[in-house]
Amino acid sequence: MSNNLTHKNILEVKDLCKTFILNKRQNNVLKNVNFTVNEGEMVAIMGPSGSGKSTLLYSISGMDDITSGTVMFDDRDIAKLSKNELAALRLDEMGFIFQQMYMMKNLTILDNIVLPAMQSKKDDGSKKDKIERAEELMRKLGIIEVADNDINEVSGGQLQRACICRSMINKPKLLFADEPTGALNRTSSMEVMEELVKLNNEGTTIMMVTHDARVASLCTRVMYIVDGNIKGEFDNRRDPAVSDKERERKLNNWLMELGW
Ligand SMILES: Nc1ncnc2c1ncn2[C@@H]1O[C@H](COP(=O)(O)OP(=O)(O)OP(=O)(O)O)[C@@H](O)[C@H]1O
Ligand SMILES: [Mg+2]
Repeated sequence: MSNNLTHKNILEVKDLCKTFILNKRQNNVLKNVNFTVNEGEMVAIMGPSGSGKSTLLYSISGMDDITSGTVMFDDRDIAKLSKNELAALRLDEMGFIFQQMYMMKNLTILDNIVLPAMQSKKDDGSKKDKIERAEELMRKLGIIEVADNDINEVSGGQLQRACICRSMINKPKLLFADEPTGALNRTSSMEVMEELVKLNNEGTTIMMVTHDARVASLCTRVMYIVDGNIKGEFDNRRDPAVSDKERERKLNNWLMELGW
């Protein structure tokens, strides 16, 4: 069993609905979604294309407003926060790795990673401390040698690892990732996953969307969404006695039963 699962919930989602209105037509994308996430979990969100996975991540991370229901982040109702409070919460306590999240073109990889720390108003050390923290993250993720490169001078896998470093620079409580390995080949995917599992083992709670069962099998829980509802949940807590291969096999069986 994973040793860092606590019973403190970091996220509590109740009756979450999200409706888009386009050309006077209502599209109920999330329909009364309920779940909680405890500190230390690593949750994979799976489901068919268009089922509402990205919308769910945007809704629970305060990136987009919700239609009804409540989202409690670390005991705070995010809909009740002022714009500035929400911005600070997102910057200081949440990390993001999203699909089209580009880095600043005129900054080096290192400067891109340090940027959110500079923007944060929380007292978190001097500029020198922040740069050292960025370098430590880059060393950990194996991209220190590209610190001074421009963003177009690195590989896709390196850029994705840089995005992870940037998302971690303010030591978030909860990291949101939308298909963090989606654009990567198998080898780079597994390298990125190894880093995310490491961060999770060190205590960062992670919620990520993925289409890849092998990627999901490394998470501690899998949530399967169909048509804006949670259709099933799979407890996948780490157990040293069960191999990665076996975990993947069990998850695949479960996904097949759900019609994946
Ligand atoms: N900003 C938006 N305005 C209007 N409709 C939207 C918006 N964002 C998403 N939708 C609609 O919400 C539904 C769910 O989209 P969403 O992006 O959450 O799916 P998804 O599960 O992430 O799919 P995929 O696996 O393809 O990324 C789709 O019908 C989509 O058209
Ligand atoms: Mg999506």
